[in-house]
Amino acid sequence: MKIVICLCLILYWLSFPVYPFGHSLLPLFSLDPSYININHGSYGSAPKYIHEKLQEYQLKAERNPDRWFRLDVQIEMENLRKKLSKYVNCDPDDLVIIDNVSAGINSILKSLKFQSNETILYYNIAYGMVKLTLQYLSTEIFTQKQIIQIELNHQTIQNTNLLLKKTQDIINKIKNVKLIIFDHISSIPAILFDIESMLKYFHSQGILTLIDGAHAIGAIELNLTKLNPDFYLSNTHKWLYTHRSSCLLYIKKDLQKLIHPIITSFGYLQSFQNEFFWLGTKDYSSYLTISDALDFRQTIANEIDIYNYNHQLAIQAGYLLAQMWNSSILISNEKFISTMNNIELPVIINTLDKMNILYQKLINQYNIFLPMIEFDKKFYCRISAQIYMELNDYQTVGKIVLDAISIIKFLPSLK
Ligand SMILES: Cc1ncc(COP(=O)(O)O)c(C=O)c1O
Ligand SMILES: *[C@@H]1O[C@H](CO)[C@@H](O)[C@H](O)[C@H]1NC(C)=O
Ligand SMILES: *[C@@H]1O[C@H](CO)[C@@H](O)[C@H](O)[C@H]1NC(C)=O
Ligand SMILES: *[C@@H]1O[C@H](CO)[C@@H](O)[C@H](O)[C@H]1NC(C)=O
Ligand SMILES: *[C@@H]1O[C@H](CO)[C@@H](O)[C@H](O)[C@H]1NC(C)=O
Repeated sequence: MKIVICLCLILYWLSFPVYPFGHSLLPLFSLDPSYININHGSYGSAPKYIHEKLQEYQLKAERNPDRWFRLDVQIEMENLRKKLSKYVNCDPDDLVIIDNVSAGINSILKSLKFQSNETILYYNIAYGMVKLTLQYLSTEIFTQKQIIQIELNHQTIQNTNLLLKKTQDIINKIKNVKLIIFDHISSIPAILFDIESMLKYFHSQGILTLIDGAHAIGAIELNLTKLNPDFYLSNTHKWLYTHRSSCLLYIKKDLQKLIHPIITSFGYLQSFQNEFFWLGTKDYSSYLTISDALDFRQTIANEIDIYNYNHQLAIQAGYLLAQMWNSSILISNEKFISTMNNIELPVIINTLDKMNILYQKLINQYNIFLPMIEFDKKFYCRISAQIYMELNDYQTVGKIVLDAISIIKFLPSLK
Protein backbone atom coordinates (compact mmCIF):
# COMPACT_ATOMS: atom_id res chain seq x y z
CA MET A 1 0.00 0.00 0.00
CA LYS A 2 2.77 2.41 1.01
CA ILE A 3 4.62 1.62 -2.20
CA VAL A 4 1.51 2.39 -4.25
CA ILE A 5 1.05 5.76 -2.52
CA CYS A 6 4.72 6.50 -3.02
CA LEU A 7 4.47 5.64 -6.72
CA CYS A 8 1.37 7.78 -7.10
CA LEU A 9 3.14 10.71 -5.49
CA ILE A 10 6.10 10.31 -7.82
CA LEU A 11 3.82 10.13 -10.86
CA TYR A 12 1.90 13.18 -9.61
CA TRP A 13 5.15 15.08 -9.20
CA LEU A 14 6.38 13.98 -12.64
CA SER A 15 3.20 15.31 -14.24
CA PHE A 16 4.27 18.86 -13.40
CA PRO A 17 6.53 20.76 -15.78
CA VAL A 18 10.19 20.35 -14.90
CA TYR A 19 10.69 24.06 -15.59
CA PRO A 20 8.21 26.85 -14.99
CA PHE A 21 7.36 28.69 -18.20
CA GLY A 22 8.75 32.15 -18.90
CA HIS A 23 12.18 33.74 -18.52
CA SER A 24 13.60 30.79 -16.59
CA LEU A 25 13.56 28.94 -19.94
CA LEU A 26 15.62 31.59 -21.77
CA PRO A 27 18.97 29.95 -20.87
CA LEU A 28 17.84 26.91 -22.89
CA PHE A 29 17.77 29.06 -26.05
CA SER A 30 20.55 30.95 -27.83
CA LEU A 31 18.68 34.25 -28.03
CA ASP A 32 20.73 37.42 -27.45
CA PRO A 33 19.83 38.58 -23.90
CA SER A 34 19.34 42.15 -25.13
CA TYR A 35 16.79 40.99 -27.71
CA ILE A 36 13.11 40.34 -26.95
CA ASN A 37 11.91 37.80 -29.49
CA ILE A 38 8.36 38.96 -29.96
CA ASN A 39 8.35 37.39 -33.43
CA HIS A 40 9.02 33.69 -32.87
CA GLY A 41 6.44 32.92 -35.58
CA SER A 42 8.54 34.06 -38.53
CA TYR A 43 11.63 31.89 -38.18
CA GLY A 44 11.33 29.96 -34.94
CA SER A 45 14.21 29.65 -32.48
CA ALA A 46 15.83 26.30 -31.80
CA PRO A 47 16.94 25.39 -28.26
CA LYS A 48 20.67 24.92 -27.59
CA TYR A 49 19.99 21.20 -27.19
CA ILE A 50 18.84 21.07 -30.82
CA HIS A 51 22.07 22.73 -31.99
CA GLU A 52 24.11 20.15 -30.11
CA LYS A 53 22.14 17.35 -31.76
CA LEU A 54 22.48 19.01 -35.16
CA GLN A 55 26.26 19.03 -34.80
CA GLU A 56 26.27 15.38 -33.71
CA TYR A 57 24.49 14.39 -36.93
CA GLN A 58 26.83 16.50 -39.02
CA LEU A 59 29.87 14.93 -37.38
CA LYS A 60 28.50 11.44 -37.95
CA ALA A 61 28.11 12.24 -41.65
CA GLU A 62 31.68 13.60 -41.84
CA ARG A 63 33.24 10.63 -40.08
CA ASN A 64 31.96 8.17 -42.64
CA PRO A 65 29.93 9.66 -45.50
CA ASP A 66 29.33 6.31 -47.20
CA ARG A 67 27.97 4.64 -44.13
CA TRP A 68 25.90 7.75 -43.32
CA PHE A 69 24.23 8.25 -46.70
CA ARG A 70 23.91 4.62 -47.75
CA LEU A 71 22.74 3.22 -44.43
CA ASP A 72 22.45 5.28 -41.27
CA VAL A 73 20.55 8.31 -42.48
CA GLN A 74 17.98 6.11 -44.20
CA ILE A 75 17.32 4.19 -40.99
CA GLU A 76 17.24 7.42 -38.96
CA MET A 77 14.72 8.96 -41.35
CA GLU A 78 12.49 5.85 -41.23
CA ASN A 79 12.49 5.97 -37.44
CA LEU A 80 11.86 9.69 -37.49
CA ARG A 81 8.80 9.35 -39.73
CA LYS A 82 7.43 6.70 -37.35
CA LYS A 83 7.98 8.92 -34.31
CA LEU A 84 6.55 12.03 -35.96
CA SER A 85 3.54 10.15 -37.32
CA LYS A 86 2.59 9.25 -33.73
CA TYR A 87 2.75 12.93 -32.78
CA VAL A 88 0.46 14.02 -35.62
CA ASN A 89 -1.56 10.76 -35.63
CA CYS A 90 -1.25 9.44 -39.16
CA ASP A 91 0.23 6.48 -41.03
CA PRO A 92 4.04 6.97 -41.19
CA ASP A 93 3.89 6.13 -44.92
CA ASP A 94 1.68 9.16 -45.54
CA LEU A 95 4.24 11.74 -44.47
CA VAL A 96 7.64 12.84 -45.70
CA ILE A 97 10.06 15.53 -44.57
CA ILE A 98 10.94 18.29 -47.01
CA ASP A 99 12.86 21.57 -46.76
CA ASN A 100 10.07 24.08 -46.53
CA VAL A 101 6.44 24.88 -47.23
CA SER A 102 7.37 26.60 -50.50
CA ALA A 103 8.82 23.34 -51.85
CA GLY A 104 5.67 21.46 -50.84
CA ILE A 105 3.21 23.98 -52.27
CA ASN A 106 5.19 24.13 -55.53
CA SER A 107 5.46 20.34 -55.82
CA ILE A 108 1.74 19.85 -55.32
CA LEU A 109 0.51 22.69 -57.55
CA LYS A 110 2.94 21.89 -60.35
CA SER A 111 2.14 18.15 -60.27
CA LEU A 112 -1.67 18.23 -60.28
CA LYS A 113 -3.17 18.04 -63.75
CA PHE A 114 -5.95 20.53 -64.38
CA GLN A 115 -8.47 20.65 -67.23
CA SER A 116 -8.80 24.09 -68.79
CA ASN A 117 -12.21 24.51 -67.13
CA GLU A 118 -11.10 23.50 -63.62
CA THR A 119 -10.34 26.14 -61.00
CA ILE A 120 -8.35 26.73 -57.80
CA LEU A 121 -9.71 28.84 -54.95
CA TYR A 122 -7.66 30.60 -52.28
CA TYR A 123 -8.22 33.37 -49.74
CA ASN A 124 -6.77 36.88 -49.63
CA ILE A 125 -4.96 36.07 -46.35
CA ALA A 126 -2.84 33.35 -48.06
CA TYR A 127 0.94 33.62 -47.56
CA GLY A 128 2.73 35.73 -50.22
CA MET A 129 4.64 32.75 -51.58
CA VAL A 130 1.38 30.87 -52.18
CA LYS A 131 -0.14 33.83 -54.02
CA LEU A 132 2.96 34.25 -56.17
CA THR A 133 3.10 30.54 -57.00
CA LEU A 134 -0.54 30.77 -58.10
CA GLN A 135 0.29 33.87 -60.13
CA TYR A 136 3.09 31.93 -61.81
CA LEU A 137 0.70 29.07 -62.60
CA SER A 138 -1.95 31.40 -63.96
CA THR A 139 0.49 33.07 -66.35
CA GLU A 140 2.68 30.12 -67.32
CA ILE A 141 0.40 27.07 -67.16
CA PHE A 142 -3.25 27.94 -66.56
CA THR A 143 -5.40 30.89 -67.49
CA GLN A 144 -6.23 33.86 -65.24
CA LYS A 145 -9.79 32.59 -64.97
CA GLN A 146 -8.70 29.37 -63.29
CA ILE A 147 -7.27 30.95 -60.14
CA ILE A 148 -9.79 32.75 -57.96
CA GLN A 149 -9.17 34.76 -54.80
CA ILE A 150 -11.82 34.98 -52.11
CA GLU A 151 -11.82 38.14 -49.98
CA LEU A 152 -12.14 37.64 -46.25
CA ASN A 153 -12.74 40.51 -43.82
CA HIS A 154 -12.70 40.94 -40.03
CA GLN A 155 -16.06 39.14 -39.78
CA THR A 156 -15.52 36.17 -42.09
CA ILE A 157 -12.13 35.31 -40.59
CA GLN A 158 -13.78 34.57 -37.25
CA ASN A 159 -17.09 33.06 -38.24
CA THR A 160 -16.82 29.72 -40.02
CA ASN A 161 -20.45 29.73 -41.19
CA LEU A 162 -20.04 33.14 -42.81
CA LEU A 163 -16.73 32.07 -44.34
CA LEU A 164 -18.27 28.93 -45.81
CA LYS A 165 -21.27 30.85 -47.10
CA LYS A 166 -19.02 33.37 -48.82
CA THR A 167 -17.00 30.50 -50.33
CA GLN A 168 -20.13 28.61 -51.40
CA ASP A 169 -21.43 31.67 -53.26
CA ILE A 170 -18.26 31.65 -55.33
CA ILE A 171 -18.33 27.87 -55.83
CA ASN A 172 -21.91 28.23 -57.15
CA LYS A 173 -20.81 30.90 -59.59
CA ILE A 174 -17.75 29.14 -61.03
CA LYS A 175 -18.95 25.56 -60.62
CA ASN A 176 -15.86 23.56 -61.58
CA VAL A 177 -13.67 24.00 -58.46
CA LYS A 178 -11.03 21.28 -58.26
CA LEU A 179 -8.86 22.51 -55.39
CA ILE A 180 -9.09 24.95 -52.50
CA ILE A 181 -6.03 26.20 -50.63
CA PHE A 182 -6.35 27.52 -47.10
CA ASP A 183 -4.30 28.22 -44.00
CA HIS A 184 -4.54 26.35 -40.74
CA ILE A 185 -2.98 29.35 -39.00
CA SER A 186 -2.44 32.25 -41.37
CA SER A 187 0.67 34.42 -41.24
CA ILE A 188 -0.34 38.10 -41.14
CA PRO A 189 -2.92 38.60 -39.88
CA ALA A 190 -2.55 35.45 -37.76
CA ILE A 191 -5.84 33.56 -37.59
CA LEU A 192 -6.46 30.03 -36.40
CA PHE A 193 -9.10 28.65 -38.75
CA ASP A 194 -11.62 25.96 -37.90
CA ILE A 195 -10.21 23.70 -40.58
CA GLU A 196 -12.00 20.64 -39.27
CA SER A 197 -15.36 22.15 -40.30
CA MET A 198 -13.88 23.58 -43.49
CA LEU A 199 -12.42 20.22 -44.53
CA LYS A 200 -15.69 18.38 -43.90
CA TYR A 201 -17.56 20.96 -45.93
CA PHE A 202 -15.22 21.01 -48.94
CA HIS A 203 -14.97 17.23 -49.01
CA SER A 204 -18.75 16.99 -49.13
CA GLN A 205 -18.47 19.19 -52.25
CA GLY A 206 -15.86 16.89 -53.82
CA ILE A 207 -13.17 19.60 -53.73
CA LEU A 208 -9.52 18.72 -53.07
CA THR A 209 -7.98 20.49 -50.04
CA LEU A 210 -4.45 21.82 -49.66
CA ILE A 211 -3.69 23.20 -46.21
CA ASP A 212 -0.83 25.55 -45.46
CA GLY A 213 -0.21 24.66 -41.83
CA ALA A 214 3.20 26.39 -41.72
CA HIS A 215 2.50 27.64 -38.18
CA ALA A 216 0.56 24.67 -36.83
CA ILE A 217 2.79 21.83 -35.67
CA GLY A 218 3.93 22.48 -32.10
CA ALA A 219 1.57 25.46 -31.73
CA ILE A 220 -1.70 23.56 -31.57
CA GLU A 221 -2.79 19.95 -31.34
CA LEU A 222 -2.54 18.38 -34.78
CA ASN A 223 -4.44 15.15 -35.51
CA LEU A 224 -4.17 14.40 -39.22
CA THR A 225 -6.33 11.27 -39.15
CA LYS A 226 -9.10 13.25 -37.50
CA LEU A 227 -8.74 16.24 -39.84
CA ASN A 228 -8.39 14.06 -42.96
CA PRO A 229 -6.97 16.68 -45.38
CA ASP A 230 -5.82 15.78 -48.90
CA PHE A 231 -2.55 17.73 -48.66
CA TYR A 232 -1.10 19.22 -45.48
CA LEU A 233 2.15 21.11 -44.85
CA SER A 234 3.76 22.33 -41.64
CA ASN A 235 7.15 23.81 -40.86
CA THR A 236 8.71 22.09 -37.87
CA HIS A 237 11.28 24.85 -37.31
CA LYS A 238 8.68 27.42 -36.30
CA TRP A 239 6.77 26.11 -33.27
CA LEU A 240 8.14 22.58 -32.79
CA TYR A 241 11.71 23.91 -32.14
CA THR A 242 13.70 22.02 -34.79
CA HIS A 243 16.62 23.44 -36.67
CA ARG A 244 15.80 25.36 -39.91
CA SER A 245 14.68 24.25 -42.29
CA SER A 246 12.44 21.22 -41.97
CA CYS A 247 8.85 20.71 -42.92
CA LEU A 248 6.25 17.96 -42.78
CA LEU A 249 4.36 17.05 -45.95
CA TYR A 250 1.32 14.80 -45.59
CA ILE A 251 -0.51 13.46 -48.64
CA LYS A 252 -3.55 11.21 -48.52
CA LYS A 253 -2.69 7.72 -49.78
CA ASP A 254 -4.70 7.68 -53.00
CA LEU A 255 -3.21 11.02 -54.10
CA GLN A 256 0.46 10.26 -53.44
CA LYS A 257 1.13 8.86 -56.91
CA LEU A 258 0.00 12.14 -58.51
CA ILE A 259 2.55 14.33 -56.74
CA HIS A 260 6.25 14.62 -57.59
CA PRO A 261 8.91 16.77 -55.96
CA ILE A 262 10.00 19.79 -58.03
CA ILE A 263 13.43 18.16 -58.25
CA THR A 264 13.46 14.82 -60.08
CA SER A 265 16.01 12.35 -58.78
CA PHE A 266 16.61 8.64 -58.00
CA GLY A 267 13.28 8.15 -56.25
CA TYR A 268 11.28 8.93 -59.38
CA LEU A 269 8.44 6.42 -59.87
CA GLN A 270 9.21 4.75 -56.54
CA SER A 271 7.11 5.08 -53.40
CA PHE A 272 6.04 8.50 -52.13
CA GLN A 273 8.57 8.23 -49.28
CA ASN A 274 11.45 7.27 -51.58
CA GLU A 275 10.63 9.88 -54.16
CA PHE A 276 10.79 12.69 -51.60
CA PHE A 277 13.70 11.24 -49.61
CA TRP A 278 16.51 11.65 -52.12
CA LEU A 279 16.49 14.94 -54.03
CA GLY A 280 20.25 15.17 -54.52
CA THR A 281 22.99 15.14 -51.89
CA LYS A 282 22.04 17.20 -48.88
CA ASP A 283 22.54 17.69 -45.17
CA TYR A 284 19.71 15.79 -43.43
CA SER A 285 20.69 17.04 -39.98
CA SER A 286 17.90 19.61 -39.69
CA TYR A 287 15.31 16.98 -40.51
CA LEU A 288 16.70 14.61 -37.89
CA THR A 289 16.38 17.23 -35.16
CA ILE A 290 12.60 16.73 -35.36
CA SER A 291 13.08 13.66 -33.20
CA ASP A 292 15.13 15.65 -30.67
CA ALA A 293 12.66 18.52 -30.66
CA LEU A 294 9.91 16.08 -29.66
CA ASP A 295 12.17 14.83 -26.82
CA PHE A 296 13.06 18.38 -25.76
CA ARG A 297 9.40 19.34 -25.46
CA GLN A 298 8.77 16.44 -23.11
CA THR A 299 11.48 17.67 -20.75
CA ILE A 300 9.69 21.05 -20.57
CA ALA A 301 6.07 20.07 -20.03
CA ASN A 302 3.09 18.19 -21.40
CA GLU A 303 2.19 19.13 -24.94
CA ILE A 304 -1.17 20.50 -23.76
CA ASP A 305 0.56 22.75 -21.21
CA ILE A 306 2.90 24.15 -23.89
CA TYR A 307 -0.03 24.87 -26.23
CA ASN A 308 -2.03 26.46 -23.42
CA TYR A 309 0.76 28.64 -22.08
CA ASN A 310 1.45 30.11 -25.52
CA HIS A 311 -2.23 30.51 -26.38
CA GLN A 312 -3.08 32.25 -23.10
CA LEU A 313 0.00 34.47 -23.31
CA ALA A 314 -0.91 35.53 -26.86
CA ILE A 315 -4.41 36.45 -25.69
CA GLN A 316 -3.23 38.35 -22.60
CA ALA A 317 -0.52 40.15 -24.58
CA GLY A 318 -3.17 41.20 -27.09
CA TYR A 319 -5.38 42.77 -24.42
CA LEU A 320 -2.40 44.43 -22.77
CA LEU A 321 -1.11 46.07 -25.96
CA ALA A 322 -4.56 47.15 -27.13
CA GLN A 323 -5.02 48.82 -23.76
CA MET A 324 -1.59 50.49 -23.84
CA TRP A 325 -2.20 51.76 -27.36
CA ASN A 326 -5.90 52.62 -26.92
CA SER A 327 -6.53 50.39 -29.90
CA SER A 328 -8.19 47.05 -30.56
CA ILE A 329 -7.42 43.43 -31.29
CA LEU A 330 -8.53 41.94 -34.60
CA ILE A 331 -10.02 38.71 -33.27
CA SER A 332 -12.67 38.90 -30.58
CA ASN A 333 -13.46 35.18 -30.49
CA GLU A 334 -10.51 33.50 -28.73
CA LYS A 335 -11.21 30.25 -30.57
CA PHE A 336 -9.58 31.87 -33.61
CA ILE A 337 -6.46 33.00 -31.75
CA SER A 338 -3.48 30.64 -31.84
CA THR A 339 -0.10 31.46 -30.31
CA MET A 340 -0.01 34.74 -32.23
CA ASN A 341 -2.27 37.76 -31.95
CA ASN A 342 -2.96 40.88 -34.05
CA ILE A 343 -3.17 44.28 -32.37
CA GLU A 344 -4.21 47.49 -34.06
CA LEU A 345 -1.24 49.87 -34.20
CA PRO A 346 -1.53 53.27 -32.52
CA VAL A 347 -0.56 54.88 -35.85
CA ILE A 348 -1.65 54.69 -39.45
CA ILE A 349 1.04 53.13 -41.62
CA ASN A 350 -0.46 53.45 -45.04
CA THR A 351 2.63 53.10 -47.22
CA LEU A 352 5.40 50.53 -47.50
CA ASP A 353 7.95 53.32 -47.08
CA LYS A 354 6.53 54.30 -43.72
CA MET A 355 6.38 50.69 -42.65
CA ASN A 356 10.04 50.19 -43.57
CA ILE A 357 11.10 53.29 -41.66
CA LEU A 358 9.38 51.98 -38.55
CA TYR A 359 10.81 48.47 -39.09
CA GLN A 360 14.33 49.87 -39.35
CA LYS A 361 13.91 52.05 -36.31
CA LEU A 362 12.64 49.10 -34.28
CA ILE A 363 15.49 46.80 -35.36
CA ASN A 364 18.36 49.31 -35.27
CA GLN A 365 17.44 51.46 -32.30
CA TYR A 366 15.35 49.17 -30.09
CA ASN A 367 16.44 45.67 -31.14
CA ILE A 368 12.94 44.29 -31.63
CA PHE A 369 10.81 43.42 -34.65
CA LEU A 370 7.07 43.15 -35.26
CA PRO A 371 5.50 42.24 -38.62
CA MET A 372 2.83 44.77 -39.64
CA ILE A 373 -0.04 44.64 -42.08
CA GLU A 374 -3.09 46.50 -43.33
CA PHE A 375 -6.19 44.32 -43.08
CA ASP A 376 -9.78 45.37 -43.70
CA LYS A 377 -8.82 49.07 -43.60
CA LYS A 378 -6.97 48.93 -40.27
CA PHE A 379 -3.26 48.65 -39.44
CA TYR A 380 -2.12 45.77 -37.25
CA CYS A 381 1.05 44.26 -35.89
CA ARG A 382 1.46 40.59 -35.06
CA ILE A 383 2.96 39.34 -31.82
CA SER A 384 4.06 35.79 -31.03
CA ALA A 385 3.92 34.14 -27.65
CA GLN A 386 6.49 31.53 -26.66
CA ILE A 387 7.43 29.46 -23.61
CA TYR A 388 10.40 31.74 -22.83
CA MET A 389 8.25 34.92 -22.91
CA GLU A 390 6.30 36.62 -20.11
CA LEU A 391 3.58 39.25 -20.13
CA ASN A 392 6.00 42.01 -19.05
CA ASP A 393 7.95 41.50 -22.31
CA TYR A 394 4.91 42.77 -24.18
CA GLN A 395 4.65 45.73 -21.81
CA THR A 396 8.24 46.61 -22.71
CA VAL A 397 7.54 46.24 -26.41
CA GLY A 398 4.35 48.28 -26.10
CA LYS A 399 6.35 51.19 -24.64
CA ILE A 400 9.06 50.82 -27.28
CA VAL A 401 6.53 51.10 -30.09
CA LEU A 402 5.00 54.23 -28.53
CA ASP A 403 8.47 55.72 -28.12
CA ALA A 404 9.49 54.86 -31.69
CA ILE A 405 6.40 56.38 -33.26
CA SER A 406 6.69 59.55 -31.16
CA ILE A 407 10.12 60.05 -32.74
CA ILE A 408 8.90 59.41 -36.29
CA LYS A 409 6.80 62.54 -36.57
CA PHE A 410 5.12 61.94 -39.93
CA LEU A 411 3.07 59.00 -38.79
CA PRO A 412 -0.53 60.10 -38.16
CA SER A 413 -1.84 58.71 -34.90
CA LEU A 414 -4.92 56.58 -34.65
CA LYS A 415 -7.03 58.93 -32.60
C1 LIG B 1 1.30 30.78 -43.77
C2 LIG B 1 2.73 30.51 -44.12
N1 LIG B 1 3.04 29.70 -45.15
C3 LIG B 1 4.32 29.42 -45.46
C4 LIG B 1 5.37 29.98 -44.76
C5 LIG B 1 6.80 29.71 -45.01
O1 LIG B 1 7.12 28.99 -46.09
P1 LIG B 1 8.61 28.49 -46.20
O2 LIG B 1 8.77 27.38 -45.25
O3 LIG B 1 8.70 28.03 -47.58
O4 LIG B 1 9.49 29.65 -45.90
C6 LIG B 1 5.10 30.84 -43.73
C7 LIG B 1 6.24 31.44 -43.01
O5 LIG B 1 6.19 32.40 -42.35
C8 LIG B 1 3.76 31.11 -43.39
O6 LIG B 1 3.49 31.95 -42.40
C1 LIG C 1 13.13 25.35 -49.99
O1 LIG C 1 13.03 24.11 -50.62
C2 LIG C 1 13.52 24.08 -51.94
C3 LIG C 1 13.24 22.71 -52.49
O2 LIG C 1 13.70 21.71 -51.65
C4 LIG C 1 14.98 24.42 -51.99
O3 LIG C 1 15.39 24.51 -53.33
C5 LIG C 1 15.20 25.74 -51.31
O4 LIG C 1 16.58 26.00 -51.24
C6 LIG C 1 14.60 25.72 -49.93
N1 LIG C 1 14.77 27.00 -49.33
C7 LIG C 1 15.55 27.17 -48.33
C8 LIG C 1 15.67 28.58 -47.87
O5 LIG C 1 16.11 26.26 -47.76
C1 LIG D 1 -14.63 20.46 -68.51
O1 LIG D 1 -13.90 20.06 -69.65
C2 LIG D 1 -13.94 18.66 -69.88
C3 LIG D 1 -13.00 18.32 -71.04
O2 LIG D 1 -12.59 19.44 -71.74
C4 LIG D 1 -15.38 18.25 -70.16
O3 LIG D 1 -15.45 16.86 -70.38
C5 LIG D 1 -16.24 18.62 -68.96
O4 LIG D 1 -17.60 18.35 -69.22
C6 LIG D 1 -16.09 20.09 -68.61
N1 LIG D 1 -16.77 20.32 -67.34
C7 LIG D 1 -17.58 21.38 -67.14
C8 LIG D 1 -18.23 21.46 -65.79
O5 LIG D 1 -17.74 22.26 -67.95
C1 LIG E 1 -7.11 11.67 -33.22
O1 LIG E 1 -8.32 11.46 -33.85
C2 LIG E 1 -8.73 10.12 -33.88
C3 LIG E 1 -9.92 9.99 -34.79
O2 LIG E 1 -10.88 10.98 -34.55
C4 LIG E 1 -9.00 9.65 -32.45
O3 LIG E 1 -9.40 8.30 -32.43
C5 LIG E 1 -7.72 9.83 -31.65
O4 LIG E 1 -7.96 9.54 -30.29
C6 LIG E 1 -7.18 11.24 -31.77
N1 LIG E 1 -5.85 11.26 -31.19
C7 LIG E 1 -5.50 12.16 -30.29
C8 LIG E 1 -4.12 12.07 -29.80
O5 LIG E 1 -6.26 13.03 -29.91
C1 LIG F 1 -4.90 56.39 -24.14
O1 LIG F 1 -5.99 57.05 -23.53
C2 LIG F 1 -5.67 57.61 -22.26
C3 LIG F 1 -6.95 58.12 -21.63
O2 LIG F 1 -7.76 58.76 -22.59
C4 LIG F 1 -4.61 58.67 -22.44
O3 LIG F 1 -4.23 59.19 -21.18
C5 LIG F 1 -3.38 58.05 -23.09
O4 LIG F 1 -2.42 59.04 -23.38
C6 LIG F 1 -3.77 57.36 -24.38
N1 LIG F 1 -2.62 56.66 -24.91
C7 LIG F 1 -2.30 56.62 -26.20
C8 LIG F 1 -1.11 55.81 -26.59
O5 LIG F 1 -2.96 57.15 -27.05
